[in-house]
Amino acid sequence: MKTYRVAILGCRGRGTAAARAYHQHPRTEVVALCDLVPELLEKLGAELDGVAGYTDLGRMMEEQHPNLVAIPTGTEFHFPLVMQVLDRGSHVDVEKPLCTDLEEADAMLARAGDQGLQIAVHHQGRVGASMRALRQAMAEGRIGQLRHVQGCGKGYYAGYGLMNIGTHLLTNMCGVAGPCRSVVAAGAVAGRRLAPEDVLVAPGGMGTVAGERLTGVLEFADNVSGVLLQHRFPKVDSAGYMMEVYGTEGRLFWKSSGLWWLPTPHFVPGGPAWQPLDLKLLPGFVPGGPADEADYAYADEYVRALDEGREHLCSGQAGRHVLEIMMGLFESAVTGRRVDLPQQDRRQPLKRWRAEAGLAASVPGLRDYGKWLAEEDRRLGRG
Ligand SMILES: NC(=O)c1ccc[n+]([C@@H]2O[C@H](COP(=O)([O-])OP(=O)(O)OC[C@H]3O[C@@H](n4cnc5c(N)ncnc54)[C@H](O)[C@@H]3O)[C@@H](O)[C@H]2O)c1
Repeated sequence: MKTYRVAILGCRGRGTAAARAYHQHPRTEVVALCDLVPELLEKLGAELDGVAGYTDLGRMMEEQHPNLVAIPTGTEFHFPLVMQVLDRGSHVDVEKPLCTDLEEADAMLARAGDQGLQIAVHHQGRVGASMRALRQAMAEGRIGQLRHVQGCGKGYYAGYGLMNIGTHLLTNMCGVAGPCRSVVAAGAVAGRRLAPEDVLVAPGGMGTVAGERLTGVLEFADNVSGVLLQHRFPKVDSAGYMMEVYGTEGRLFWKSSGLWWLPTPHFVPGGPAWQPLDLKLLPGFVPGGPADEADYAYADEYVRALDEGREHLCSGQAGRHVLEIMMGLFESAVTGRRVDLPQQDRRQPLKRWRAEAGLAASVPGLRDYGKWLAEEDRRLGRG
Protein backbone atom coordinates (compact mmCIF):
# COMPACT_ATOMS: atom_id res chain seq x y z
CA MET A 1 0.00 0.00 0.00
CA LYS A 2 1.21 3.49 -0.82
CA THR A 3 2.54 5.55 2.05
CA TYR A 4 1.79 9.25 1.65
CA ARG A 5 4.69 11.62 2.21
CA VAL A 6 3.67 14.52 4.45
CA ALA A 7 5.46 17.81 5.16
CA ILE A 8 4.55 20.16 7.99
CA LEU A 9 4.78 23.89 7.25
CA GLY A 10 4.67 25.69 10.62
CA CYS A 11 5.90 23.80 13.67
CA ARG A 12 4.35 25.47 16.70
CA GLY A 13 1.24 24.17 18.55
CA ARG A 14 -0.97 23.04 15.67
CA GLY A 15 1.97 21.91 13.54
CA THR A 16 3.13 19.70 16.38
CA ALA A 17 -0.38 18.22 16.71
CA ALA A 18 -0.57 17.53 12.95
CA ALA A 19 2.93 16.02 12.89
CA ARG A 20 2.09 13.65 15.76
CA ALA A 21 -1.06 12.42 14.01
CA TYR A 22 0.63 11.83 10.62
CA HIS A 23 3.62 10.24 12.38
CA GLN A 24 1.38 7.78 14.22
CA HIS A 25 -0.75 6.86 11.21
CA PRO A 26 0.63 3.73 9.48
CA ARG A 27 -0.13 5.04 5.98
CA THR A 28 1.49 8.49 6.30
CA GLU A 29 5.11 9.42 6.87
CA VAL A 30 6.31 12.85 7.99
CA VAL A 31 9.26 13.45 5.65
CA ALA A 32 10.01 17.13 6.30
CA LEU A 33 9.35 20.07 8.59
CA CYS A 34 9.50 23.75 7.67
CA ASP A 35 9.52 26.77 9.94
CA LEU A 36 11.19 30.16 10.00
CA VAL A 37 12.39 29.40 13.56
CA PRO A 38 15.22 26.80 13.56
CA GLU A 39 14.73 25.87 17.25
CA LEU A 40 11.21 24.67 16.49
CA LEU A 41 12.56 22.43 13.72
CA GLU A 42 15.11 20.93 16.08
CA LYS A 43 12.56 20.29 18.85
CA LEU A 44 9.89 18.69 16.67
CA GLY A 45 12.49 16.95 14.49
CA ALA A 46 13.95 15.27 17.59
CA GLU A 47 10.50 14.00 18.61
CA LEU A 48 9.99 12.56 15.10
CA ASP A 49 13.27 10.60 14.90
CA GLY A 50 15.28 13.33 13.16
CA VAL A 51 13.02 14.34 10.26
CA ALA A 52 14.69 16.85 7.91
CA GLY A 53 14.06 20.51 8.76
CA TYR A 54 13.92 23.49 6.39
CA THR A 55 13.54 27.22 6.80
CA ASP A 56 12.68 27.67 3.12
CA LEU A 57 9.44 26.28 1.73
CA GLY A 58 10.64 26.23 -1.90
CA ARG A 59 13.72 24.23 -1.04
CA MET A 60 11.75 21.75 1.03
CA MET A 61 9.28 21.17 -1.82
CA GLU A 62 12.08 20.75 -4.37
CA GLU A 63 14.04 18.25 -2.29
CA GLN A 64 11.23 16.27 -0.63
CA HIS A 65 8.30 16.20 -3.10
CA PRO A 66 5.66 15.60 -0.42
CA ASN A 67 2.25 14.29 -1.48
CA LEU A 68 0.60 16.42 1.17
CA VAL A 69 1.58 19.57 3.05
CA ALA A 70 -0.04 20.56 6.36
CA ILE A 71 -0.23 24.35 6.78
CA PRO A 72 -0.82 25.16 10.46
CA THR A 73 0.19 28.83 10.41
CA GLY A 74 -1.60 32.04 11.39
CA THR A 75 -4.79 32.37 9.34
CA GLU A 76 -3.66 35.47 7.43
CA PHE A 77 -0.84 33.37 5.89
CA HIS A 78 -3.08 30.52 4.70
CA PHE A 79 -3.85 32.06 1.32
CA PRO A 80 -0.28 32.78 0.08
CA LEU A 81 1.11 29.55 1.52
CA VAL A 82 -1.68 27.34 0.13
CA MET A 83 -1.16 28.90 -3.32
CA GLN A 84 2.60 28.24 -3.18
CA VAL A 85 2.11 24.63 -2.11
CA LEU A 86 -0.49 23.97 -4.82
CA ASP A 87 1.82 25.50 -7.44
CA ARG A 88 4.51 23.07 -6.33
CA GLY A 89 2.22 20.10 -6.78
CA SER A 90 1.09 18.92 -3.33
CA HIS A 91 -2.30 18.36 -1.75
CA VAL A 92 -3.03 20.66 1.20
CA ASP A 93 -4.21 20.25 4.80
CA VAL A 94 -4.76 23.85 5.90
CA GLU A 95 -5.70 24.84 9.44
CA LYS A 96 -9.11 26.36 10.05
CA PRO A 97 -10.59 28.71 9.03
CA LEU A 98 -9.74 28.17 5.35
CA CYS A 99 -8.81 31.86 5.00
CA THR A 100 -10.25 35.28 5.82
CA ASP A 101 -12.53 36.07 2.84
CA LEU A 102 -14.36 34.51 -0.07
CA GLU A 103 -12.23 36.02 -2.81
CA GLU A 104 -9.20 34.21 -1.39
CA ALA A 105 -11.22 31.02 -0.92
CA ASP A 106 -12.44 31.06 -4.53
CA ALA A 107 -8.93 31.65 -5.84
CA MET A 108 -7.49 28.76 -3.81
CA LEU A 109 -10.16 26.29 -4.84
CA ALA A 110 -9.84 27.31 -8.48
CA ARG A 111 -6.06 26.77 -8.31
CA ALA A 112 -6.51 23.36 -6.66
CA GLY A 113 -8.96 22.38 -9.40
CA ASP A 114 -6.56 23.53 -12.15
CA GLN A 115 -3.75 21.52 -10.58
CA GLY A 116 -5.83 18.39 -9.97
CA LEU A 117 -5.07 18.64 -6.24
CA GLN A 118 -7.23 18.86 -3.17
CA ILE A 119 -7.41 21.18 -0.20
CA ALA A 120 -8.85 19.92 3.07
CA VAL A 121 -9.50 22.21 6.05
CA HIS A 122 -8.39 21.03 9.48
CA HIS A 123 -11.85 20.87 11.07
CA GLN A 124 -10.80 17.72 12.91
CA GLY A 125 -13.88 17.72 15.14
CA ARG A 126 -16.06 16.86 12.15
CA VAL A 127 -14.34 13.48 11.78
CA GLY A 128 -13.53 12.91 15.47
CA ALA A 129 -15.09 10.19 17.63
CA SER A 130 -17.97 12.27 19.01
CA MET A 131 -19.14 13.41 15.54
CA ARG A 132 -18.81 9.83 14.26
CA ALA A 133 -20.98 8.65 17.17
CA LEU A 134 -23.47 11.44 16.44
CA ARG A 135 -23.78 10.42 12.78
CA GLN A 136 -24.29 6.81 13.86
CA ALA A 137 -26.95 7.76 16.44
CA MET A 138 -28.83 9.74 13.80
CA ALA A 139 -28.55 6.90 11.29
CA GLU A 140 -29.96 4.51 13.93
CA GLY A 141 -32.99 6.81 14.23
CA ARG A 142 -32.40 7.69 17.89
CA ILE A 143 -33.80 11.22 17.54
CA GLY A 144 -36.34 10.60 14.77
CA GLN A 145 -36.47 13.30 12.14
CA LEU A 146 -34.09 16.26 12.43
CA ARG A 147 -35.75 19.59 13.36
CA HIS A 148 -33.13 21.98 14.66
CA VAL A 149 -29.45 22.29 15.54
CA GLN A 150 -27.87 24.78 17.94
CA GLY A 151 -24.24 25.61 18.54
CA CYS A 152 -22.46 27.82 21.07
CA GLY A 153 -18.89 29.09 21.17
CA LYS A 154 -16.42 29.50 24.04
CA GLY A 155 -17.23 33.11 24.84
CA TYR A 156 -14.62 35.01 22.83
CA TYR A 157 -15.47 38.49 21.49
CA ALA A 158 -18.02 37.35 18.92
CA GLY A 159 -16.52 38.46 15.62
CA TYR A 160 -13.20 36.85 16.51
CA GLY A 161 -14.93 33.85 18.09
CA LEU A 162 -16.94 33.26 14.92
CA MET A 163 -13.80 32.98 12.79
CA ASN A 164 -11.93 30.95 15.42
CA ILE A 165 -14.50 28.60 17.00
CA GLY A 166 -17.62 29.26 14.94
CA THR A 167 -15.86 27.68 11.97
CA HIS A 168 -15.71 24.32 13.86
CA LEU A 169 -19.33 24.59 15.00
CA LEU A 170 -20.64 25.54 11.58
CA THR A 171 -18.94 22.66 9.80
CA ASN A 172 -20.44 20.30 12.39
CA MET A 173 -23.88 21.90 12.01
CA CYS A 174 -23.63 21.42 8.23
CA GLY A 175 -22.45 17.87 8.88
CA VAL A 176 -25.76 17.31 10.68
CA ALA A 177 -28.17 19.38 8.56
CA GLY A 178 -26.47 19.71 5.16
CA PRO A 179 -25.67 22.95 3.31
CA CYS A 180 -27.07 26.21 4.68
CA ARG A 181 -29.44 28.11 2.37
CA SER A 182 -29.62 31.50 4.09
CA VAL A 183 -28.69 33.31 7.28
CA VAL A 184 -30.05 36.13 9.42
CA ALA A 185 -28.04 37.59 12.29
CA ALA A 186 -28.30 40.06 15.14
CA GLY A 187 -25.08 41.72 16.24
CA ALA A 188 -24.28 44.07 19.09
CA VAL A 189 -21.34 45.73 20.72
CA ALA A 190 -21.48 47.34 24.18
CA GLY A 191 -25.23 46.80 24.22
CA ARG A 192 -25.94 48.74 21.02
CA ARG A 193 -26.28 47.89 17.34
CA LEU A 194 -23.13 47.73 15.23
CA ALA A 195 -21.78 50.88 13.58
CA PRO A 196 -19.18 51.04 10.78
CA GLU A 197 -16.62 52.17 13.38
CA ASP A 198 -17.02 48.77 15.06
CA VAL A 199 -15.54 46.97 12.04
CA LEU A 200 -12.09 45.92 13.28
CA VAL A 201 -9.11 43.85 12.24
CA ALA A 202 -9.27 40.77 14.48
CA PRO A 203 -6.40 39.50 16.62
CA GLY A 204 -4.62 36.30 15.59
CA GLY A 205 -4.75 37.11 11.87
CA MET A 206 -8.47 36.20 11.68
CA GLY A 207 -9.38 38.94 9.19
CA THR A 208 -11.92 41.75 9.50
CA VAL A 209 -14.68 41.22 12.07
CA ALA A 210 -17.42 43.00 14.02
CA GLY A 211 -19.59 42.29 17.05
CA GLU A 212 -19.16 41.50 20.70
CA ARG A 213 -22.32 39.38 20.53
CA LEU A 214 -23.60 37.68 17.41
CA THR A 215 -26.67 35.45 17.17
CA GLY A 216 -27.17 33.73 13.85
CA VAL A 217 -30.24 31.93 12.50
CA LEU A 218 -29.54 29.42 9.75
CA GLU A 219 -31.95 27.96 7.21
CA PHE A 220 -31.35 24.39 6.01
CA ALA A 221 -33.34 22.13 3.68
CA ASP A 222 -36.53 20.34 4.82
CA ASN A 223 -37.57 23.06 7.30
CA VAL A 224 -34.53 22.39 9.49
CA SER A 225 -33.32 25.48 11.37
CA GLY A 226 -30.11 26.30 13.19
CA VAL A 227 -28.97 28.85 15.75
CA LEU A 228 -25.38 29.80 16.41
CA LEU A 229 -24.51 31.77 19.54
CA GLN A 230 -21.23 33.64 19.47
CA HIS A 231 -21.48 35.70 22.63
CA ARG A 232 -18.66 37.22 24.61
CA PHE A 233 -18.76 35.71 28.09
CA PRO A 234 -17.22 37.45 31.14
CA LYS A 235 -14.41 34.87 30.79
CA VAL A 236 -13.61 32.47 27.94
CA ASP A 237 -15.18 29.17 28.96
CA SER A 238 -14.69 25.94 26.97
CA ALA A 239 -17.71 24.49 28.81
CA GLY A 240 -19.89 26.69 26.59
CA TYR A 241 -18.58 25.01 23.42
CA MET A 242 -21.37 22.60 22.45
CA MET A 243 -23.88 21.58 19.85
CA GLU A 244 -27.38 20.26 20.51
CA VAL A 245 -29.40 18.45 17.87
CA TYR A 246 -33.19 18.36 18.18
CA GLY A 247 -35.23 15.60 16.56
CA THR A 248 -38.91 14.67 16.58
CA GLU A 249 -38.20 11.83 19.04
CA GLY A 250 -35.05 12.76 20.93
CA ARG A 251 -31.99 14.99 21.24
CA LEU A 252 -28.23 14.66 21.00
CA PHE A 253 -25.74 16.80 22.91
CA TRP A 254 -22.29 17.03 21.34
CA LYS A 255 -19.03 18.10 22.95
CA SER A 256 -15.64 17.49 21.38
CA SER A 257 -15.07 15.04 24.27
CA GLY A 258 -18.37 13.14 24.25
CA LEU A 259 -21.93 12.57 23.07
CA TRP A 260 -25.16 12.29 25.10
CA TRP A 261 -28.63 11.18 24.05
CA LEU A 262 -32.02 12.24 25.42
CA PRO A 263 -34.62 9.65 24.42
CA THR A 264 -37.52 12.18 24.38
CA PRO A 265 -37.90 15.30 22.23
CA HIS A 266 -38.09 17.74 25.18
CA PHE A 267 -36.10 17.72 28.39
CA VAL A 268 -38.42 17.64 31.41
CA PRO A 269 -36.94 17.73 34.95
CA GLY A 270 -37.65 14.34 36.55
CA GLY A 271 -38.26 12.77 33.12
CA PRO A 272 -35.90 10.55 31.11
CA ALA A 273 -32.26 11.50 31.68
CA TRP A 274 -29.45 12.27 29.24
CA GLN A 275 -27.41 9.09 28.56
CA PRO A 276 -23.78 9.03 27.44
CA LEU A 277 -23.22 7.17 24.17
CA ASP A 278 -20.10 5.10 23.46
CA LEU A 279 -17.31 6.64 21.41
CA LYS A 280 -15.41 4.17 19.21
CA LEU A 281 -11.74 4.73 18.47
CA LEU A 282 -10.38 4.06 15.01
CA PRO A 283 -8.31 0.89 14.58
CA GLY A 284 -4.64 1.85 14.68
CA PHE A 285 -5.13 4.82 16.99
CA VAL A 286 -3.05 4.57 20.17
CA PRO A 287 -4.98 6.07 23.13
CA GLY A 288 -2.78 7.91 25.60
CA GLY A 289 -0.10 8.47 22.94
CA PRO A 290 1.05 11.85 21.71
CA ALA A 291 -1.49 12.09 18.86
CA ASP A 292 -4.96 13.52 19.46
CA GLU A 293 -7.85 11.23 18.47
CA ALA A 294 -9.59 13.76 16.18
CA ASP A 295 -6.32 14.78 14.47
CA TYR A 296 -5.59 11.09 13.86
CA ALA A 297 -9.09 10.59 12.43
CA TYR A 298 -8.53 13.60 10.16
CA ALA A 299 -5.27 12.07 8.87
CA ASP A 300 -7.02 8.72 8.43
CA GLU A 301 -9.80 10.36 6.40
CA TYR A 302 -7.15 12.04 4.20
CA VAL A 303 -5.56 8.67 3.47
CA ARG A 304 -8.94 7.18 2.53
CA ALA A 305 -9.87 10.18 0.39
CA LEU A 306 -6.58 10.00 -1.55
CA ASP A 307 -6.82 6.20 -1.92
CA GLU A 308 -10.37 6.48 -3.24
CA GLY A 309 -9.75 9.56 -5.40
CA ARG A 310 -12.43 11.57 -3.61
CA GLU A 311 -12.57 14.70 -1.49
CA HIS A 312 -11.88 14.68 2.26
CA LEU A 313 -15.03 15.02 4.40
CA CYS A 314 -13.51 18.35 5.54
CA SER A 315 -12.98 19.43 1.94
CA GLY A 316 -12.03 22.88 0.73
CA GLN A 317 -15.58 23.23 -0.63
CA ALA A 318 -17.01 22.45 2.81
CA GLY A 319 -14.55 24.94 4.37
CA ARG A 320 -15.53 27.59 1.83
CA HIS A 321 -19.21 27.03 2.59
CA VAL A 322 -18.49 27.62 6.28
CA LEU A 323 -16.78 30.88 5.28
CA GLU A 324 -19.85 31.80 3.20
CA ILE A 325 -21.99 31.33 6.31
CA MET A 326 -19.62 33.42 8.45
CA MET A 327 -19.47 36.24 5.88
CA GLY A 328 -23.26 36.02 5.53
CA LEU A 329 -23.67 36.36 9.30
CA PHE A 330 -21.47 39.45 9.35
CA GLU A 331 -23.36 40.95 6.42
CA SER A 332 -26.77 40.29 7.94
CA ALA A 333 -25.65 41.61 11.35
CA VAL A 334 -24.75 44.98 9.85
CA THR A 335 -27.50 45.33 7.22
CA GLY A 336 -30.36 43.66 9.10
CA ARG A 337 -31.22 41.68 5.95
CA ARG A 338 -31.39 37.94 5.19
CA VAL A 339 -28.42 36.75 3.12
CA ASP A 340 -29.00 33.94 0.61
CA LEU A 341 -26.10 31.53 0.15
CA PRO A 342 -23.87 31.24 -1.73
CA GLN A 343 -23.67 35.01 -2.03
CA GLN A 344 -23.03 36.52 -5.47
CA ASP A 345 -20.91 39.38 -4.13
CA ARG A 346 -17.74 37.73 -2.86
CA ARG A 347 -16.16 40.87 -1.35
CA GLN A 348 -15.65 40.96 2.43
CA PRO A 349 -19.01 42.42 3.58
CA LEU A 350 -17.68 44.35 6.58
CA LYS A 351 -14.92 46.01 4.58
CA ARG A 352 -17.55 46.91 1.99
CA TRP A 353 -19.90 48.33 4.65
CA ARG A 354 -17.18 50.46 6.19
CA ALA A 355 -16.09 51.79 2.79
CA GLU A 356 -19.71 52.59 1.85
CA ALA A 357 -19.94 54.62 5.06
CA GLY A 358 -16.97 56.67 3.83
CA LEU A 359 -14.51 55.32 6.40
CA ALA A 360 -10.95 54.24 5.65
CA ALA A 361 -10.11 50.53 5.95
CA SER A 362 -9.64 49.32 9.54
CA VAL A 363 -6.01 49.15 10.60
CA PRO A 364 -4.53 46.02 12.18
CA GLY A 365 -4.46 46.19 15.97
CA LEU A 366 -2.68 43.91 18.41
CA ARG A 367 -2.26 40.26 17.41
CA ASP A 368 -2.55 38.83 20.93
CA TYR A 369 -6.22 38.22 21.87
CA GLY A 370 -6.00 39.38 25.50
CA LYS A 371 -4.16 42.58 24.64
CA TRP A 372 -6.48 43.25 21.68
CA LEU A 373 -9.50 42.82 23.95
CA ALA A 374 -8.10 45.22 26.55
CA GLU A 375 -7.63 47.79 23.79
CA GLU A 376 -11.18 47.19 22.53
CA ASP A 377 -12.58 47.63 26.06
CA ARG A 378 -10.74 50.96 26.25
CA ARG A 379 -12.25 51.98 22.87
CA LEU A 380 -15.67 51.18 24.28
CA GLY A 381 -15.00 53.38 27.32
CA ARG A 382 -14.58 50.59 29.85
CA GLY A 383 -11.40 51.91 31.40
N1 LIG B 1 -7.92 22.96 14.58
C1 LIG B 1 -7.80 23.44 15.81
O1 LIG B 1 -8.30 22.88 16.78
C2 LIG B 1 -7.03 24.70 16.02
C3 LIG B 1 -6.70 25.13 17.32
C4 LIG B 1 -5.96 26.31 17.46
C5 LIG B 1 -5.56 27.03 16.33
N2 LIG B 1 -5.92 26.59 15.09
C6 LIG B 1 -5.51 27.31 13.88
O2 LIG B 1 -4.13 27.05 13.69
C7 LIG B 1 -3.50 28.16 13.06
C8 LIG B 1 -2.37 28.67 13.92
O3 LIG B 1 -1.62 27.57 14.37
P1 LIG B 1 -0.58 27.80 15.53
O4 LIG B 1 -1.31 28.40 16.70
O5 LIG B 1 0.21 26.57 15.74
O6 LIG B 1 0.30 28.96 14.82
P2 LIG B 1 1.51 29.84 15.36
O7 LIG B 1 1.28 31.20 14.79
O8 LIG B 1 1.71 29.66 16.84
O9 LIG B 1 2.73 29.14 14.64
C9 LIG B 1 2.87 29.17 13.26
C10 LIG B 1 4.29 28.75 12.91
O10 LIG B 1 4.38 28.82 11.47
C11 LIG B 1 5.63 29.38 11.14
N3 LIG B 1 5.53 30.03 9.82
C12 LIG B 1 4.72 31.06 9.47
N4 LIG B 1 4.95 31.40 8.18
C13 LIG B 1 5.90 30.55 7.71
C14 LIG B 1 6.55 30.41 6.45
N5 LIG B 1 6.29 31.21 5.42
N6 LIG B 1 7.48 29.43 6.31
C15 LIG B 1 7.77 28.63 7.36
N7 LIG B 1 7.19 28.74 8.58
C16 LIG B 1 6.25 29.68 8.75
C17 LIG B 1 5.92 30.38 12.24
O11 LIG B 1 7.32 30.61 12.37
C18 LIG B 1 5.34 29.67 13.48
O12 LIG B 1 6.31 28.90 14.15
C19 LIG B 1 -4.59 29.22 12.89
O13 LIG B 1 -5.11 29.15 11.58
C20 LIG B 1 -5.64 28.80 13.92
O14 LIG B 1 -6.95 29.21 13.56
C21 LIG B 1 -6.61 25.43 14.93
